[in-house]
Amino acid sequence: MNIVLTGGTGLIGKSVIAHLLENGHSVVALTRQHTTAAFSAFEKKPFRTVQWDAHTLGSGDRAWSKEISGAEAIIHLAGEGIFDKRWTAEIKHRLVESRLTTTRLLVEAIAQADTKPRVFISASAVGYYGDRHDVPTDESTPPATDFLADLCVRWEKEAEEARKYGVRVANPRLGIVLAESGGALGRMLPVFKAFLGMPLGAGKQWFPWVHSEDVVRGICFPLENSNLEGAYNLASPAPVRMEEFCAELGKALNRPSWSPLSVPEFALKLALGEAASSLTGGANIIPKKLLELHFEFRYTKVSSALQQLLRP
Ligand SMILES: NC(=O)c1ccc[n+]([C@@H]2O[C@H](COP(=O)([O-])OP(=O)(O)OC[C@H]3O[C@@H](n4cnc5c(N)ncnc54)[C@H](OP(=O)(O)O)[C@@H]3O)[C@@H](O)[C@H]2O)c1
Repeated sequence: MNIVLTGGTGLIGKSVIAHLLENGHSVVALTRQHTTAAFSAFEKKPFRTVQWDAHTLGSGDRAWSKEISGAEAIIHLAGEGIFDKRWTAEIKHRLVESRLTTTRLLVEAIAQADTKPRVFISASAVGYYGDRHDVPTDESTPPATDFLADLCVRWEKEAEEARKYGVRVANPRLGIVLAESGGALGRMLPVFKAFLGMPLGAGKQWFPWVHSEDVVRGICFPLENSNLEGAYNLASPAPVRMEEFCAELGKALNRPSWSPLSVPEFALKLALGEAASSLTGGANIIPKKLLELHFEFRYTKVSSALQQLLRP
């Protein structure tokens, strides 16, 4: 398949490109970067980069939107990092705009394309559900009302517009991605390695993790599976609570997790502002749609996932 992808320089995007190329697809990555350095690993494959400014469709020879006509699928992962900075009003605006504007532009490009893609896979997040305490949470659970949930609702809605043009739309609601470097694990590792590891907040909140290999396969699943449409949960079918995750991480690193000590909620609020509530709450996510479609998660135990990712 010819696939156009955004967010290809990101934690997940890089692995998605590698997976697609390994499986014989050709990929065009839309990027804001002026150089192709971040993509050097893919140079000799059926792979190209095209620059976009993520604000306009471009014009003339520089119109990235021309790439959409003839592409069979679009995978949209671009967006300002959610936990990279404290959520000031300006950062919140950027978190929202970088997702809504890019999604809207892709839909506009689809509308203009002579040959439309078959499927538009546009990321979302389990932040859609907010804090659900112990309630099992599948795709039928309604959204929460906090900032992240509202962002996910609006982001998915923008993507759904592509349906008007006969395109199947799939929104993977991603859990917390565990990868070899970067992401949530990348932030926790130095703290645990320094013998300072402990849960954030009460520790009883759910931690809907997913191994990067499963997230990549789950994002690409709608390419082969035309029954998969709309939003679907993409988190491990065996979520754990924050305190169990920290205990397993400590074990994998041969370091302590000082539970029942924990980083108190007020300290997190001081450091992170409103973003803290996304770490001190969570949902017991069930990837119901994927399981019904017989998607096989390779990592269903957090201990094995961590051992695989942290092996020397
Ligand atoms: N990682 C997780 O645990 C997780 C969990 C739930 C949901 N998600 C969502 O999944 C998507 C991919 O996640 P990720 O962890 O791979 O993200 P990431 O590492 O932060 O990468 C996102 C990519 O988006 C592009 N980007 C950044 N800021 C942008 C802006 N202001 N406007 C337009 N493009 C921008 C960048 O690509 P260029 O510089 O090449 O343009 C960047 O490489 C994100 O939307 C994220 O919110 C991730």
